[in-house]
Amino acid sequence: YFPTIKELPPDPLFGLKARYNADPRTEKVDLGIGAYRDNSGKPWILPAVKQAEAKLIGSADYNHEYLSISGFEPFLKQAAKVILGDNSKALSENRVVSQQSLSGTGALHVAGVFLKEFYNGQKTIYLSKPTWANHKQIFENLGLEVANYPYWNNDTKSLDLKGFLDTIKSAPTGSIFLLHACAHNPTGLDPTQDEWKQLLHELDIKKHVVIFDSAYQGFASGNLEKDAFSIRYAIDQSIIKTPIVICQSFAKNCGMYGERVGAIHIIPGVEPNESLNKAIKSQLNKIIRSEISNPPAYGSKIVSTILNDPTLRKQWEDDLVTMSSRIIKMRYKLRDLLSGELQTPGNWDHITNQTGMFSFTGLTPDMVGRLEKVHAIYLVSSGRASVAGLNDNNVEKVAKAIDEVVRF
Ligand code: LMR
Repeated sequence: YFPTIKELPPDPLFGLKARYNADPRTEKVDLGIGAYRDNSGKPWILPAVKQAEAKLIGSADYNHEYLSISGFEPFLKQAAKVILGDNSKALSENRVVSQQSLSGTGALHVAGVFLKEFYNGQKTIYLSKPTWANHKQIFENLGLEVANYPYWNNDTKSLDLKGFLDTIKSAPTGSIFLLHACAHNPTGLDPTQDEWKQLLHELDIKKHVVIFDSAYQGFASGNLEKDAFSIRYAIDQSIIKTPIVICQSFAKNCGMYGERVGAIHIIPGVEPNESLNKAIKSQLNKIIRSEISNPPAYGSKIVSTILNDPTLRKQWEDDLVTMSSRIIKMRYKLRDLLSGELQTPGNWDHITNQTGMFSFTGLTPDMVGRLEKVHAIYLVSSGRASVAGLNDNNVEKVAKAIDEVVRF
């Protein structure tokens, strides 16, 4: 009955995790999936989350009832403020339509379904080259066409700004561009604020629709506002006048990976339009109802508890600094070991110039293969390393192993 079906290779990231889990070597190191680990290599439940859970479970109205199709309203309201800012003009002018989603992936999927059905422009989605492995298949599964814009210059290990701008200019007017709001996955390389301004101005000139994928707000710099620069610049000053879609995940910045907490926010234009908002909201509801009935409650109630309680919110902001500063410290340790003590051939400054969870190390697939086989160090074959997997106990081992495979 399924004559064309073929077994696919394992997912690059989850397949890697399965190999790591199955490896019996005790000194193994996981630099694969982007999930924060503390300095002893363990998953970290954020203190803000622990306190919010206790508060939520202890409250009189705690239950496991269905949420509405839109999601948990107190969560959605605060989630929009986290990404757009407390004083967002778009929010005060009632120009934002929000819907709770199955984290960032679910938001991207809903964005794809929505644009496919209702966007009347050029439905090609431009993705950075390289990008998160899942982006392409999320949109292609929906039958949408996917194209690329240059992003990473492998020779200089820096942003290919010219290539990026040229593609914005040459793409058919009204195409769709997916941008990583901060902490670009997999390269860890973000445009500077001046580069963002140039990029967003060109996107506006070509009337491209913009999807912001915001999976790491607070992770790059430890500061929610700074990490939302690209989004707020585009929206606050109405730089982008075409529709803007924001896909927001709380998986990483709340360390709630498995709870699938996220939202999609659509800003249809620069002028308030209540009836359009209502139509969009009802269509998003229909997509959610037909696919997942209604969004998961537990994670969104935890995040809502944090965002609606000033003490917990402050604790969360401290937790973001704890995570981002530990990652930055590990970047410096690794870079210093390679460039200093070990004198490993090559320049390793990109490790400290990059930001967020990942470093695009520049290691080749062969080197990555040898790291796994000989040294039990796991990273994706593109050379992307999750810096969060480094700690004081394993960073020297990792540096020495990198040195060995580079010289091999
Ligand atoms: C990653 O890129 O490692 C994370 O976003 C996890 C995932 O779902 O791929």
